[in-house]
Amino acid sequence: MVRAPALSVRNLRVVYSDRNAQVTALSVDALDVAPGTLLAVTGPSGSGKSTFLYALAGLLRPKSGTVAWDGRDLLAGSESERDRWRRHTIGFVFQDFHLLPELTPLANVLLPASFESVSAKASLKDRAAGLLERFGVPSKRKSIADLSRGEQQRVALARALLFDPPVLLADEPTASLDASAGEMVAQTLEDLAQREARTVIAVTHDPMLIERITTRFQLERGQVRQTESAKALA
Ligand SMILES: Nc1ncnc2c1ncn2[C@@H]1O[C@H](COP(=O)(O)OP(=O)(O)OP(=O)(O)O)[C@@H](O)[C@H]1O
Ligand SMILES: [Mg+2]
Repeated sequence: MVRAPALSVRNLRVVYSDRNAQVTALSVDALDVAPGTLLAVTGPSGSGKSTFLYALAGLLRPKSGTVAWDGRDLLAGSESERDRWRRHTIGFVFQDFHLLPELTPLANVLLPASFESVSAKASLKDRAAGLLERFGVPSKRKSIADLSRGEQQRVALARALLFDPPVLLADEPTASLDASAGEMVAQTLEDLAQREARTVIAVTHDPMLIERITTRFQLERGQVRQTESAKALA
């Protein structure tokens, strides 16, 4: 069984500055997420959902506050240490995928392996091919540009799972999928959390996905509007 790290967020503030103004995009006083939780983050466009996921992954530096995984402050340690830890611990599905269009689907899934040894790369190649097959992506295409948007979304998910991470953060992972691919991805997220005890946090507007997730966290203008656990209420 996987041992996912517990998440603890305290007094987190994220402020974006541009030339004219400072925008507080996120303000979360306290949130604890136990290992093995499947959590849906919902809220209107611009409410800070992507910002929240970036902060949880250490992809941005908050103005103040802490994000700790198993008590370890995400921003502690050197940058290279942090990058390595993150690569192996947190799989991240970007809202706009962040795929490299000139590379094949397989090469895109293998991007996070660039820093690994030759032998590790060889075994990751088999895993990457297996993930693409599992998600029904036509992996023989020459480049990502030849895939549909829904197929690209599944490549992004496969890449996030390359290192079999104990934590998956997914930004709108079903937004471009049809009903059957959406169901398959929803089932994958559910299995990762419920069967394998990984922590899965998914930002979503998709009613099909929201309905399957019992623990929910709603943002509005960067603030927590509501937290809900249907299990706890039942
Ligand atoms: N780099 C940036 N500079 C300035 N403001 C930003 C930046 N990135 C995001 N914002 C602002 O921060 C707020 C939160 O943005 P965020 O992308 O987190 O929202 P979201 O809930 O993910 O929206 P959506 O559902 O449309 O993806 C918005 O008001 C947005 O305009
Ligand atoms: Mg977003």
